[in-house]
This record gives sequence, structure tokens and C-alpha cells, in this order.
Amino acid sequence: MITSAENDLMCRVEGDAPMGSVMRHYWMVACLSEEIKESGGKPLRVGLIGKKYVAFRNTAGEAGFLDEKCSHRGASLALGRNEECGLTCLYHGWRTNVKGEIIDMPSEPEESGFRKKIKHNAYAVKEWAGVIWVYLGDQTEVPEFVPPAWAPTADTKVSIAKIRIPCNWAQVTEGALDSAHSSSLHSSDMVPSRVLEAEADESSWYRPSTDKNPKFRVEKTNYGYHYAAIRRPIKNASTHDYIRTSVFVAPMSVLIPPNKSYNVANVNVPIDDDNTMFHFIGWGENCPDQDAWCKFLSAEQGIDVDEKWISKRNIDNDFLQDRELMAEGNYTGIPGIPNQDIAMWITMGSVADRTEDTLGASDISIVEFRRCVLEQVNLMKSDPKEFSQQIYRKGVETILPSWQGVVPKGTDWTSLEGRSKVKMT
Ligand code: FES
Ligand SMILES: [Fe+2]
Repeated sequence: MITSAENDLMCRVEGDAPMGSVMRHYWMVACLSEEIKESGGKPLRVGLIGKKYVAFRNTAGEAGFLDEKCSHRGASLALGRNEECGLTCLYHGWRTNVKGEIIDMPSEPEESGFRKKIKHNAYAVKEWAGVIWVYLGDQTEVPEFVPPAWAPTADTKVSIAKIRIPCNWAQVTEGALDSAHSSSLHSSDMVPSRVLEAEADESSWYRPSTDKNPKFRVEKTNYGYHYAAIRRPIKNASTHDYIRTSVFVAPMSVLIPPNKSYNVANVNVPIDDDNTMFHFIGWGENCPDQDAWCKFLSAEQGIDVDEKWISKRNIDNDFLQDRELMAEGNYTGIPGIPNQDIAMWITMGSVADRTEDTLGASDISIVEFRRCVLEQVNLMKSDPKEFSQQIYRKGVETILPSWQGVVPKGTDWTSLEGRSKVKMT
């Protein structure tokens, strides 16, 4: 349980909220590259941390990220013409390039020099892993882009299911860090089975345990924390443990326990206090292709989510829960692992009231997440310089990706690593 003030401090990001400032110190996921794939194509309105921006790919193929409102009198550049290496505002024709320079201003005499005095807010952009990344902090001190732990190299295979969720980013992130729920909520999709380790096919994930009461171990790290959920395996229960590790990479990413074939991650980008752009990511050479991934997760655009990533499942239609399916043995009546999570997150309220939580031993990771986030935001408030130095120091951030497997009892879980150790330098 935390206080109402702590809850607001942790969750709220809009305006001058300290948590929004924390997030502006990191490179953030803005949109998918394919959403602005065409040079000179339609610009995309993007909401991030309570503000509106426009992403576009100019006629020379460069990606740009600008404040949505035109510097002149605030009309939307998302409706603008994408032409001649800039976005032309429809109202009076001011054209802004990816650097924020006004490169045409037909409403003013060129000889006045007025055009050159204006600078529109433009942000540093990086394309990586099929994603447009943006840095929203001080543009005179843009930190070097560091590849995310879920796409450590430029050629990492990545598939992303994207869903816009009408609730706060923190409860979405807590959901990804809460291993205990998978044995209940996802029990029809993560099926206990006599396998040696977690396996996956196109219909289900299989896990070698029926244990719904895992034991937890947590270790703080310089990028956030990681923890292990330790369960009794179906085979060799007297001598072995089934271990699943999860990793929180501040401020909004989680490496979820993988399966034998591929890794899984999740990035929860706040659009504002009450809306989150959720990215469910499969990565690694054997991860399903993009279309198969979205199909497996019941998150196909045009079928499950619309062109703005809004799900057809919502609180007013009870997430299209199928009670007949439940009578036949399906646990939730809601297809797709993320759709099951989303139903829980949304019904917790727009910004979950954590003053009323009743936390038990299985919630140790949730407690650690709150501690970790509040520690960051309090440091940023009290000593912004030290905060910046801490998050930008180089060469120390080695992240062991999430892991799962059956190991002899007593194995040190903190150093378990699989096929892909990620060195962050
Ligand atoms: S408001 Fe954009 S050019 Fe006038
Ligand atoms: Fe879940």
C-alpha cells in the first residue's frame, strides 16, 4: 500500500509532473517505423506524456518529430502538406523541417529576416528495431541512443503487437512485473505440461509446472531490478526448481520470461495520465513474424484493433467475454494473453487507487516496482544533476535478459542467462 500522494507522484506524467520529467530523460518509443513508412506520406499525430506531437517522414526519407501545433498560430501540422523536406501548415503556409527550422513563410516578406528568427520545437529521432525513438528532453544535451535490451543489435528480429489502453502506464507495467497472475489469468494459454522448459506453438505456451504459489527473490540493479519466481516443476520436484526471471528496465520496459523459442518484452508508453500505448514484443531469431505474432495475441490491426490501435474489446462490452467458452473450460473467456491483462488493468480504474491494495507475499515485485520508481522520481526532484548522471553513466549497464528453465535447487538465479546476454555500453 502507498499513500495517495505517492500514487500520484508515481503515476501522473502530464504537465510539470516529476514522473513526466523522469521519462523525458530517456529515449522513448514514439511509433512504429511502418506508421510513417512513406517519404512525403501522411504525418502521424502522436500523444506522449500528455503532449501532442507529429511524426513524419519527409520527402528525402528522414524521420522527423515536431510539436503538433504550428509555431505561427497553433493549427495542427498533422493535417499539413508533407512536401519539399518539410511539413507545410495549411493555414498560412509556414513550412517546418525536421530540425524545426521554418523553411518557407509565404505570409511574411523574406527580407524582414523574421523567418530565420523562429525555431519550432523539434526532437532528436532514431530509427531502430522497426521503431521511431524520440528524445523529448533538453535538445542541447541529447544522450547517445542505447539499443534496448530487446533489440540489442540492428538485425535483431522483432515483432510488435500494439494496443492503446485507456488506463495509466504504471498499472500496465505492474501487470508485466507480476509473475503470480500468469498461473491464473493466463492458465488457458500458458498450459502446465510435461515439458522440460517453457515451449511455444502457434496456439499456446507450455510450462513445466502446475505451481500457483511461486516463491520470489528480488535483486536491485542499476537499470531497475530483476526478480525470480520459483515454482515446483512437474518433473523432479524434490531436486529441482522451475525458475522464471523478469527484468524491469526503468522507466517503462519489462523483459518478460521467455519460452524455449523466443524472448518477450513489453514497453508501456504513457500517452497521458489515463492512456497508455502498450507494445507486446517478441524478439530473437525464432520469434514469430509480425502478422503471426499479432494473430497469436488476438491483436491484429483491422480485426482486433482499429487504425488508431483501439481495441474492439472494452469495459462497456465486458471485453467480449465468452461465458460459453468458459463453461467449456476456458479460464477467462477472453482470447489473447494481452487482452486478458488489459481487461484486468482497465477494470482497476483509470489511475488505480493503490491506497486500497491488499498486498501479499506474492506481490513482492509490485512493492519493488513502486519503491524503484518513487526512488527515481524523488532523486530527480531533489538532485536533478545526480539523477542525470546516474541514468547516463556508461559501461555499467549489463542487462541479463529474462530467463526461464528447470535448474537444480540452490542454483544462483541472479546469473542465469540464456542464448542472449545483452551488453549495454
Ligand atoms: S497557423 Fe500555421 S501557418 Fe499560420
Ligand atoms: Fe499477463
